[in-house]
Amino acid sequence: MLVLLVKQKKSVQSKKLIVHYIQSDHPMNRPHVIVNCAMSADGKIALPTGKQLRISSDEDMKRVYELRHQCDAVLVGIGTILVDNPKLTVKDSYVQNPCQPLRVVLDAQGRTPSDAFVVNDAAETVIFTTNQHIKKVHVQRGQVHACPETTQGILDLHYVLSVLFERGIRTLLVEGGSTIIWSFFHEHLVDEFFLYIGSLIIGGDQTPTVAGGQGIVSQKDIIPLHLCNLQQLGTGVLLHYKSRSS
Ligand SMILES: NC(=O)c1ccc[n+]([C@@H]2O[C@H](COP(=O)([O-])OP(=O)(O)OC[C@H]3O[C@@H](n4cnc5c(N)ncnc54)[C@H](OP(=O)(O)O)[C@@H]3O)[C@@H](O)[C@H]2O)c1
Repeated sequence: MLVLLVKQKKSVQSKKLIVHYIQSDHPMNRPHVIVNCAMSADGKIALPTGKQLRISSDEDMKRVYELRHQCDAVLVGIGTILVDNPKLTVKDSYVQNPCQPLRVVLDAQGRTPSDAFVVNDAAETVIFTTNQHIKKVHVQRGQVHACPETTQGILDLHYVLSVLFERGIRTLLVEGGSTIIWSFFHEHLVDEFFLYIGSLIIGGDQTPTVAGGQGIVSQKDIIPLHLCNLQQLGTGVLLHYKSRSS
């Protein structure tokens, strides 16, 4: 059975309604997690150097900004911060009276530069790092939060989600990069997955793909998805998946 949750969220100029559906048997001690990614027709998400390139059509850019606007928080890994220096805000040229989501960065070694856009005062930011490196990171608005590591030496995503949930975050948009997306799938923490396929080829053996990390070992480890919808969006195609357990 689906429960309709209607949440009111205030922005400076406007109030908006966020409507999202969550299964009643979902363990609601964590936010609803949506992964969004744009890839080329050959499955790459950046240039072979790792640098960003435009894969989304204008129509898809608008969709992504609207999705950000509707989510309570948007999360990326330190790899994406160091390579792309994203602002992770909603542009008012795409969304009128935008609501800026909380920006979340996973950065175990405290490598977020003090002049990175993500730590400016355009929106609140929470950086998760280890106790050891907590003093190295600073944000203009928000917090730096100590986070335990797993036995694999990465930040514990379950802990991250529980902290965000306690802060009132109910919808979390995970925007990358490759290693972070893998970790969320591997931990079975993804509820929805939007994948835009741009009509282009990038190539390159080392070019980042949608899900990097270690990958699975055998057929029994696959992470199955349920394809809910596909549509042409500008010059590319948008796929919408749900996890099989959601
Ligand atoms: N096309 C798209 O839609 C899109 C969107 C975003 C990014 N990208 C591309 O993705 C690439 C960056 O991906 P990336 O894999 O290098 O970096 P990433 O996924 O952004 O960040 C990975 C880093 O996050 C840290 N981390 C902390 N906790 C983690 C956890 N639980 N699981 C995994 N990582 C954790 C690790 O560094 P520490 O150990 O130092 O913490 C790890 O190396 C760039 O080429 C960028 O352009 C593409």
